[in-house]
Amino acid sequence: MNNQPFIMIIFGATGDLAQNKLIPALFSLFKQEILPKDFFLIGFSRRKISDSEFRKFFESSKDLPAQAGPEWEEFAKHLTYQNGDFTEKQGYLSLIDKLNAIDKKIGACVTRFFYLATPPQNYETILDFLESTKLSEGCLPSETLVKEGKQGQFTKLIIEKPFGKDLETAQMIDKKLAKIFEERQIFRVDHYLGKETVQNLLAFRFANGIFEPVWNKNFIDHVQITFAEQDGIKNRGKFFDGVGTLRDVGQNHLMQLLAAVTMESPKSFTKEDVRDERAKVIASLKLDGEVIRGQYESYKKEKDVAEDSQTETFLATKLFVNTERFANVPFYIRAGKKMEKNLVEISVVFIQTCHILFKEYGCPEIGNVITFRIQPDEGISLRFIAKKPGAKLALNPVNMDFTYKESFGTKGLEAYEKVLLDIFAGDQILFNRSDELASSWKLITDVLEKWKKENEKVQIYDDNSWGPKEAKELIEKDGKKWI
Ligand code: BG6
Repeated sequence: MNNQPFIMIIFGATGDLAQNKLIPALFSLFKQEILPKDFFLIGFSRRKISDSEFRKFFESSKDLPAQAGPEWEEFAKHLTYQNGDFTEKQGYLSLIDKLNAIDKKIGACVTRFFYLATPPQNYETILDFLESTKLSEGCLPSETLVKEGKQGQFTKLIIEKPFGKDLETAQMIDKKLAKIFEERQIFRVDHYLGKETVQNLLAFRFANGIFEPVWNKNFIDHVQITFAEQDGIKNRGKFFDGVGTLRDVGQNHLMQLLAAVTMESPKSFTKEDVRDERAKVIASLKLDGEVIRGQYESYKKEKDVAEDSQTETFLATKLFVNTERFANVPFYIRAGKKMEKNLVEISVVFIQTCHILFKEYGCPEIGNVITFRIQPDEGISLRFIAKKPGAKLALNPVNMDFTYKESFGTKGLEAYEKVLLDIFAGDQILFNRSDELASSWKLITDVLEKWKKENEKVQIYDDNSWGPKEAKELIEKDGKKWI
């Protein structure tokens, strides 16, 4: 990373995201000595706390070392706090004073990153205040910026999913963003794009000549994506209830996993070419039939969840990717909380041909499968059929395995570390462009409207299971099984 000073203003600094992801990622980058000498992290939230209480607040974070020690002490010196109600001007004005004081101390216009880590209902208000107080422009007046050709140079806006509740609200936010910032200043975060394993999917597909020829409908029988989390919603009821799995991970992480397996090779590895291909493939997705919605049994007893909540904590569906490469190949997807296992993986199941020759010796039902394990135990495995040792001819599936840990001794950067580094470097490849989001919101909004119209209740499933029985039936009625 370059050694340019920066300021990051985190709105919603005492929230779950800042506590469990952002600050731990920044701390880790600090320990790896990747951050510049001068950097300033300003938390902006409603709570009335002092700088030192703010620093203490993170020490209880489960993702920070318990006794953080001298490194944490050093890092914490970069953390300060600005109390403010998002809906009142006063906090923003005090923030301006703080920012000006930093510029003065450094003797330059320091780049300001505004990170919206709040619940989405605050986005519009914060954006309005960033505009009306001219915080969005940075340290120089806009006329000077224009005259010197430096528009957008000193401020960047980082916004977290979910961007809105549906297509209409997402477009409203987008319009507002476009009015205040230029596209190159906007970073729409989907941290799944920052995961090493997701980035590796593109390397796997496009850097290995042996897979490309079989990556299509002539060889692939179907694809399965499982996004299973053992945890429930923990203490995120306020955020999650009324949002649900479809908006929480369906509209974003699942779409990006799908795009990584199915997109065409970009013309070059530059942000516009990569985002063009992602956008095209997301626009081509077509649902086939219903989206099953489930809710884990103990969900209604969770904190901040309505007693009669119909929010889904699980979904399963089948869809098609309407491109020449994948026409008629079914994609089965399931995602849920309180599942039997923690497992995020994509399995590409190839057409089984072994029965042509070996019918009488018993062919395993499933033949070749390439599995990308996004987490845990990050890696890739290739399943093929081998002859079982012995005098008689018998066949058995076996696995060839690659794990990051074994091959590289590390699983690489955490997703948020990568996301932050790319923001600092101004690299937008791993961030959503607004057309990608519009297509995914269109698909999701159709489902939400259908659910609303049909007014059907969620299917309750046992805690620590694989979801409602309908999810099993969804794939089994096509003569296939979840792997
Ligand atoms: C977040 C969702 O975006 O992703 C959470 O809001 C989910 O509900 C999380 O648990 C999963 O991310 P990860 O990196 O822990 O797999």
